[in-house]
Parts: sequence; C-alpha cells; structure tokens
Amino acid sequence: MAWQLQLNLDRQSTTPLIEQLRSGIKSMIEAGALRPGAPLPSSRLLAADLRIARSVVVEAYQQLTAEGYLISVDRSGTRVANLAPAQDRAVTGASGEPALSTVSARWDLRTGLADVSGFPRAEWLTCLRRVLQTATPEHLEYPALAGAAELRSELTSYLGRVRAVRTTADTLMTTAGFAQGLALLSNMLLDLGHATVAVEDPGHPGQRRFLEDIGLRPVPVPVDDEGIDVQALAASEARAVLVTPVHQFPTGVVLSESRRAALVTWARKVDGIIVEDDYDAEFWFDDAERPPAVQGLAPERVVYGGSASKTLAPGLRIGWLAAPAHLTPVLERARARQDLGSSTIDQLGYADFIATGRLERHLRQMRRRYRERLEAFTAAVANLLPDFRLIGSPAGLHTFLAIPPYLGERALVDAAARRGVVVRGADHFAFHHRPPTPGLVVGDAVHSRDSLVGAASALAAAVRMIRTD
Ligand SMILES: Cc1ncc(COP(=O)(O)O)c(C=O)c1O
Repeated sequence: MAWQLQLNLDRQSTTPLIEQLRSGIKSMIEAGALRPGAPLPSSRLLAADLRIARSVVVEAYQQLTAEGYLISVDRSGTRVANLAPAQDRAVTGASGEPALSTVSARWDLRTGLADVSGFPRAEWLTCLRRVLQTATPEHLEYPALAGAAELRSELTSYLGRVRAVRTTADTLMTTAGFAQGLALLSNMLLDLGHATVAVEDPGHPGQRRFLEDIGLRPVPVPVDDEGIDVQALAASEARAVLVTPVHQFPTGVVLSESRRAALVTWARKVDGIIVEDDYDAEFWFDDAERPPAVQGLAPERVVYGGSASKTLAPGLRIGWLAAPAHLTPVLERARARQDLGSSTIDQLGYADFIATGRLERHLRQMRRRYRERLEAFTAAVANLLPDFRLIGSPAGLHTFLAIPPYLGERALVDAAARRGVVVRGADHFAFHHRPPTPGLVVGDAVHSRDSLVGAASALAAAVRMIRTD
C-alpha cells in the first residue's frame, strides 16, 4: 500500500520493480491522474513508502525523464512534464464562453466581479484568529443546518438596520452564497408543488439555467423603466417570482413605488412567493434615497436573499436567506438533502467582522472607490460618447450604457472586441423579450479610473470604426 502515489507493486510478478514503477507512473500520466507540472514524491520518500530500494525509484524516474514524461526541476525535485494533451488546450469557462485568460482583452468589462484587491485581509485575519481562539468544542461539531447562531443573530440586526428587513434569527438561514440559496429555494418551490418560477427578462442567464437544471420552468416577464411588469407577471401562471428590485440585473432600473405595492398585492392574491435577490444594495451612489428591501413590506410573502460576494469577495461563499416563518422548515428539509451546513468558522468570522464594525469600515472605503470609478466612467462617456446614455440608478458594480439607435448592439459588441474591450450587450441577458433598450452592460467596478477612461475611448474608436465601414 503506497500513500504517496495511487500505485501498487506486485512483488510476485516476474516484471522487474523498476519496470512496474515506470509503467505505473506513465499510465497515471497518460490517464491524466498525474497532471502536467504535478510534483512527484522524492525518491527517498517514495522508496520508503513502497518499501523498495531508493535506486529503483531513481532509475524509474530517470527512464521517464529520458522519455519526456518527467522533468527534473532545480530544488523543487521531479515533476510531470508539460505534454499538453489535447483536452488541456481547449478549456472554456463554465458558460461555454472562452475562459477569461484566453480572451485577448485590454478591458474586460463583463459584469459580476467585485474588486477583490480591496479585500481587507488583515482585518479578516484578525476576526478569524479571534474566532479560532474562542471557538468552543461545539463550534467544531457538525453545525446547525440553518447556520451559526452568532451570524444569524448578527445578520438579523444588520439587515434590519441597513435594509429594513424584518426577520428573526430563527427564520434566517446562512448559505454558500445566494447561489446555494437559490438552489434551496428551487427545491423548496418544487416541494410546494410549483412547476414554474417567473424571472425578469432581461435577467441573469446563469440563474435561469440554474432554475431549469433543478427542474423548474422559468417564465420570462418583461422589465421596463419601472422594473418588472407586474401585470404581465399576473397574466402568467407562475406563483413565484425571482426579482432584483433595488438595482435590476442587468438594466439597473429601480422597481417603482407603485410596482413594489403591486408586486406584494399580486403575491397575496395568488398565494405566491417573491424571492428578492438583494445582490448589490450596499453600493448606492444616487442622491435619491436608497429603496429598502421589498421584504419589509411583506415578510410573510418574501424570501430575502443576499451574500458577501459583492461586499467582500465571492470566494468566501457566504450568503443568507430570510424566509417567512412557515417556509423555514421546508427550506431546512431541502437543505438536509443537500449538505450538512456551512463552515462554522467562516460564519463566526463574518459575525465578528460585522459586530466589530469592520464591515461598515470596509464598505465606506469600497463605496468611495466604486463611486469614483463610476463617476470617471460617466464623465468619460459624456465626453467621448455623447450619444450614449447611462440608465438605471447609479448603484452596484455595473452600469447600463444605452446606445444610440443608429448603432446595432451586435455590431458594437464585435467592434469593441476588436478594439480590446470585452463587454456584453443587453441581448446576452434577454430571455424571450427584446430588452427595453439596446445597450452595453458594463462591469465598471474592477477597473481604475484611468482604465475606464481608456475603455470609453476604445468604445468611441469602435463606434467610429462601425460608422466608417
Ligand atoms: C444577480 C446576481 N445575484 C446574485 C449574485 C451573487 O451570487 P453569489 O452570492 O452566489 O455569489 C450575483 C453575482 O454575480 C448576481 O449577479
């Protein structure tokens, strides 16, 4: 039995040990179990592990090196050579689009990213250290499915204070981001007999696919300059809807007062459920008051979802759902079928991060940074693209740039790519209906002000290119 390599040697065999080892490692490389660049154990360690002479390992390694399977790297020992098997060269992103690294973009303006260079590493470490020092043995046992009590309690008061969410620690569940929340909600809806769920159109294509994969049918409902069209929603057969009321994804429009009221009236009338994805509300740069969560209007009808993906980093995978009390057990049953809860240590760390005021401090810094970037982009658009219009509320980590009627969206996206700007058109987010306005959905949060001015200037060059073609 070897611990260092998944490889067995047959001591009864007439095949010499060197050859067994050589062909065993070669097969592992060819099968892709040992990947290019993977380190091999030192000859001393592997020999001890396999209980064979070190010279056997040295010889097998030397033969494989001569054959080009292994390379010997100064100081870092022996590694698998880069044989570049065919499947390695054609890696694409999860969406089937070229992976980020394969796109030759000077400006990648695709949405969905927070500026993780601002992640407060030292502060986070302080919280995690404190948590590890004070965690009880119970904290290291399997967690409660709904999440760590400390974080649920902290989030309850935080969300009440900053988003007017009305919830209690008992009806709040922590999740691995909103994505897991959505998976749980989808399963909950199936358990409750829903076959369909209404979604905003345009909306998040990934979320739509997610719902479909779980077995729900997403029903597209158009969005206009007041947000989701509640009349069209009422005309659909869906009794559940997924919405982004504060900063519609991707148009950026805010659900109007009258539509908020109509949405809640609809939910009460059809015995429906509103899923509120409050994904980027911490960033609001408008002079107008930031609208509170819709959940506060009807806590018995709305499941409110949020996450730390935009405020801190998506890699943390920390999210939450605040659900009506009667849905909490159904959600817990769905959760029990999925996993055994989220990491308690990370949750305690986040609870401490909120409780000690570090989240507020971090948000103040990031708001300033994102606001300056948006302002720089807005000014550059006014200067360089005077026929373009930024629509939707100035908020969140992306902005919607409406394009003039004389430009085709597809042509502009293509011309922009040729000028080094990777950006998506509104059409990318459309499901069934044409987007209310053709335009570009610009992820502006991860770029410096200078870089955004450069991107606007490259877009202006793309426009000139189309017009002279
Ligand atoms: C519309 C929308 N909702 C939610 C999220 C956050 O998802 P998660 O919390 O799983 O990272 C994103 C992230 O890009 C998003 O675009």
